[in-house]
Amino acid sequence: MLFITSLIFTSLFYFAGTTVVALPADVGEADVASAVSSSHQKRYSPSAPYFVEYFDASVSGVTGAPPVSDVSGYNVFILAFLLIEGAWDNAEGWTELTADERSSTKADYNDAGIALMVSVFGSTDTPTTSGADPTDTANTMAAWVVEYGLDGIDVDYEDFDAMDSGTAEAWLVTFTTQLRNQLPAGDYIITHAPVAPWFSPNIWTNGGYLEVNSEVGDLIDWYNVQFYNQGASEYTTCDGLLNTSSSTWPESALFQIIANGVASDMLVIGKPATTGDASTGYMSSSTLATCVEDAKAEGWDAGVMVWEYPDAGTSWITTVRADSWPVSS
Ligand SMILES: *[C@@H]1O[C@H](CO)[C@@H](O)[C@H](O)[C@H]1NC(C)=O
Repeated sequence: MLFITSLIFTSLFYFAGTTVVALPADVGEADVASAVSSSHQKRYSPSAPYFVEYFDASVSGVTGAPPVSDVSGYNVFILAFLLIEGAWDNAEGWTELTADERSSTKADYNDAGIALMVSVFGSTDTPTTSGADPTDTANTMAAWVVEYGLDGIDVDYEDFDAMDSGTAEAWLVTFTTQLRNQLPAGDYIITHAPVAPWFSPNIWTNGGYLEVNSEVGDLIDWYNVQFYNQGASEYTTCDGLLNTSSSTWPESALFQIIANGVASDMLVIGKPATTGDASTGYMSSSTLATCVEDAKAEGWDAGVMVWEYPDAGTSWITTVRADSWPVSS
């Protein structure tokens, strides 16, 4: 992800005025809320396909999460970021609401079939390189998720030096294991957001995300795969995104990752909303819709992730889903 601090964005104001209200097409079958005895908050977990939107930007008048009517067509909304030093940007905004405001906003989201999560680390934190203990960090972050009443946690680990040197895998395995100990399956969602090249075989010293997946993939609900920021012509056509990645990042297109052993229904395609939301990897929403249609025709049903609100709202996801899982109105 691109990490945008509050400071940089305090002078920018966005207006997300859409009032279209439409539930995700799959809300009925996905209505798997479960009460957790340790907390008054109910948890909500949708089923695949997942339509995921991040929110790190500063939007005038929005503290924490926007009105749910602005994110119709998604079933997962992720506040960013919780850092090692504490909650930041919209994760911090969430803590500034009263407990009643949080539970009423979360109920609005869940009633609309949308899970509300927090993302951790982003491109600011380099947890392994900076020496953070994976077990302690997992305990702290899991406690925050419980305290602030969210449906789950997204691990946006971007410690590139650690992946290069081969220390990332073991850190992520320990971190994920402890996170799952604290946030049990069925009660809480745990996702990861690796960049697509981390699934390339034979590049990473200790196996990259193929190794992470083989060790703790069964503790992870799905991957919000970042198919962007990896080079000017990487993942910009349906063929490059789905079938054949470049020789720079071999075997990291969607179906190549699946062929290398990652479950098809865990691989959510992540894209930037606009050219301004990432350095590279942008694809128009209408082109992406045709890729999603192709992938669906080949049996994939994991879904789509976008970085970020408010640049992508209901109209973006409505276009992206149009040829596969149309948003009902
Ligand atoms: C990807 O491969 C499948 C299976 O061979 C093929 O049907 C499809 O047309 C390819 N998609 C693109 C965009 O090349």
